[in-house]
Amino acid sequence: MRRVFFLLGKGGVGKTTSAASLALNLSRKGFSVFWASIDPAHNLWDVLGMEEEGGVKRVEGRLWAQEVDLEAYIRRFLGETTQRMKELYRHLQILNLEGMLDVLRYSPGMEESALLFALKEILEVHGDKDYLVIDTPPTGLTLKIFSLPFSILLWIDQLKKWRERILDRRAVVRSIKGEKALGEGVACEKGEDSIYRELERQEREAGVMAELLRDGDRVANILVMNQDRLSFMESQRIKVFLERMEIPIHLILLNKFGLVRGREGVEEGRVRETFSPVPVRVLPFVEGALGKEELLLLGRDWVEELV
Ligand SMILES: Nc1ncnc2c1ncn2[C@@H]1O[C@H](COP(=O)(O)OP(=O)(O)O)[C@@H](O)[C@H]1O
Ligand SMILES: [Mg+2]
Repeated sequence: MRRVFFLLGKGGVGKTTSAASLALNLSRKGFSVFWASIDPAHNLWDVLGMEEEGGVKRVEGRLWAQEVDLEAYIRRFLGETTQRMKELYRHLQILNLEGMLDVLRYSPGMEESALLFALKEILEVHGDKDYLVIDTPPTGLTLKIFSLPFSILLWIDQLKKWRERILDRRAVVRSIKGEKALGEGVACEKGEDSIYRELERQEREAGVMAELLRDGDRVANILVMNQDRLSFMESQRIKVFLERMEIPIHLILLNKFGLVRGREGVEEGRVRETFSPVPVRVLPFVEGALGKEELLLLGRDWVEELV
């Protein structure tokens, strides 16, 4: 895989349109491309003017696309999590995991977790393609997905410390009361403790994601905006948020240029100044239908710079 592209920005600015343009142009250059929409309100196939179907579908040449089924990922994510918990807590008969499923399903953070899980799988399964193009949900959810690996790392760091304390106490009990005091299979060492090992596994997984998101060579974030004040302001907030997480922005697309006129519109110069040194490419507002040819034309200049 050469690179993953994330299309970010406010709803309606043209993320899906730009993603389509990027994916089509890359595929016409002969690259293999996987285009995934992780926006729960998909319209990937509508933009391409194709019939909607579940699963992965070939668009043309070496371009494949998929609308990620969030509900299915939530079910699988819950399934895998409970399975792992069952194995970890085999000895605790009282733990009613099935009963907890419903509570977990509607817990805060579930959508982000499932989407992060989906993203990880897309990267694994389609890592053989030259490029991955990811069409993202509205800003709030996307930024939560992006920050999730970092908050997981903070949590795990703390949980590991607590677990170490428990293991230390067990070791003290054992040294005083002898080998048998703790019971069968109760570990005192990190390497033998299944819970500690699970924390390390999750730490590794989150670490891979966090590292990837910050790696400007492997990931390119494309921020799409329009000239209206609201999308400009939201883009500024995205910039601040990503900067705080040390996630770089690769390119700004000032889309539907010319649609907003007069005082309502933010000047191109102001956009360039605000996001400098990130390059800004201007995409015109296209009158009439946006068919494949128009989509290809829309990305002709800037896609060239991305390969
Ligand atoms: N450059 C453009 N010229 C004309 N219409 C555009 C352009 N970019 C996007 N649109 C239109 O704007 C609407 C929203 O675009 P879309 O790509 O779905 O936005 P998002 O994915 O950010 O919600 C669609 O109707 C799309 O056809
Ligand atoms: Mg969209």
